[in-house]
Amino acid sequence: MASHLQKSWRLSLFCSLMVLLGMVRLSTGYATTHFKPSRWNSAHATFYGDDSASETMGGACGYGNLFNNGYGTNTAALSTVLFNNGYGCGSCYQIMCVGSKWCNKGRYGHGSTSITVTATNLCPPNWSQDSNAGGWCNPPRVHFDLSMPAFKQLAFWKAGIVPVQYRRVPCARKGGIRFSFQGNNYWLLASIMNVGGGGDIARIWVKGTRTGWISMSHNWGASYQAFSQLGGQCLSFKIQSYSTRETIVAYDVVPAYWSVGMTYQARVNFR
Ligand SMILES: *[C@@H]1O[C@H](CO)[C@@H](O)[C@H](O)[C@H]1NC(C)=O
Repeated sequence: MASHLQKSWRLSLFCSLMVLLGMVRLSTGYATTHFKPSRWNSAHATFYGDDSASETMGGACGYGNLFNNGYGTNTAALSTVLFNNGYGCGSCYQIMCVGSKWCNKGRYGHGSTSITVTATNLCPPNWSQDSNAGGWCNPPRVHFDLSMPAFKQLAFWKAGIVPVQYRRVPCARKGGIRFSFQGNNYWLLASIMNVGGGGDIARIWVKGTRTGWISMSHNWGASYQAFSQLGGQCLSFKIQSYSTRETIVAYDVVPAYWSVGMTYQARVNFR
């Protein structure tokens, strides 16, 4: 018993030292990404929910409360083609209203206002509506269903739907990549949030103090899972960007006493 206690004490000390070393080694905290904005393309935008944007919380990407998790109200639900089975989660788009009398004018009354939104949800198809009359999110349409506060920055809300120009842009995020934990000691389900650069995720690996790198499988949205005994170990994560395939390693993101229901922040991010 005594030796067991001593061992776990040693382990936790080792982990803290690793955390300290990590802080020194990763003093900048950012990995430069080579993500480049895409060309401008045409689509349409609508909105869902109301001014409170409460309906945008708990979307299909698994980000939960968007205010607590850094996304705010400048968010979009993507049509199926852009959502890309969850690999579109976290990506950022610059959107401009063009060619409608409902578009807000830009500064000094010239051009159009543009906004940058993060994809946090899926706009599901509705096959009982025509793709050109209500079924805006039906494949193969490219469509943005914005939060109401985001839509109102672009156009008069009474328009309902407006034509837009859009392009993918890098995501500028504050702080490190975040990991929200669910599951148990034998099944870790992590929702990955606040990813900078491309904002999206291709693959994730987790490493406990007593394991090698374990590839996590895609669960849904931006959630990944590992069926491994990871309880009582410090965890590190390796994240590969979907759009650039660049990887970043976040060492010792969580202490050995991590628990489900908690959100942990790495000291690193793409920028
Ligand atoms: C799909 O469209 C029909 C017809 O407009 C509507 O009654 C129904 O509520 C829609 N379904 C969803 C899930 O929005």
